[in-house]
Amino acid sequence: MSGTWVVFEGGDGVGKTTQIDLLAAWLRSHMPDVVVTREPGGTPLGVELRAAVMHGDHVAPRAEALLYAADRAHHIHAVVRPALERGAVVVQDRYLDSSIVYQGGARGLGDEVERISMWATEGLLPHLTVVLDMAPTGDRLERDLDRVERETAAHAAQIRAGFLALAERAPARYAVVDAARPVDVVAADVRAAVERLL
Ligand code: TMP
Repeated sequence: MSGTWVVFEGGDGVGKTTQIDLLAAWLRSHMPDVVVTREPGGTPLGVELRAAVMHGDHVAPRAEALLYAADRAHHIHAVVRPALERGAVVVQDRYLDSSIVYQGGARGLGDEVERISMWATEGLLPHLTVVLDMAPTGDRLERDLDRVERETAAHAAQIRAGFLALAERAPARYAVVDAARPVDVVAADVRAAVERLL
């Protein structure tokens, strides 16, 4: 496959959407075929699965993991693989690391989650995963948080640690970018990491 595939990962609220938009605009000024997509929800079927998994009634953790994997299987088959085969640059919001970190780690489903996604995608891995990294509570001190904020921060800290651990496991395929800095500074680092691939 002749294309280039860049995935963005990170906790909720780290600025993925903004950085994806900026990277896509820059890429489009340099090359003709740039595909911006996301999981869950990068296909018509995926939009339905996204609604089911994110806005449905309580979804059992294993059902949730399988819905993300189903979205992923279809998305890779219908969008990502064809785009890479024709030589496009694919910029994607979240991929299987999100399942490893959210379902495998935070929900406690363990290593099988990764195997399910690898089966779903026939083992397709991005050329680069950009982890947008940010401390969950910013400058606030633990003692200034109420109970709910503390729980939310603990969950976010677990998610953050999960992505950093994945990046450490395969540093050649990752760029960890400090996302707590101004948008244009973060964007410049992202662009530099992607430029090295092209
Ligand atoms: P997003 O709007 O940033 O893409 O958020 C989607 C939410 O879904 C986010 O909280 C992370 C979660 N998610 C998982 O739990 N597992 C997954 O495999 C994916 C792709 C997303």
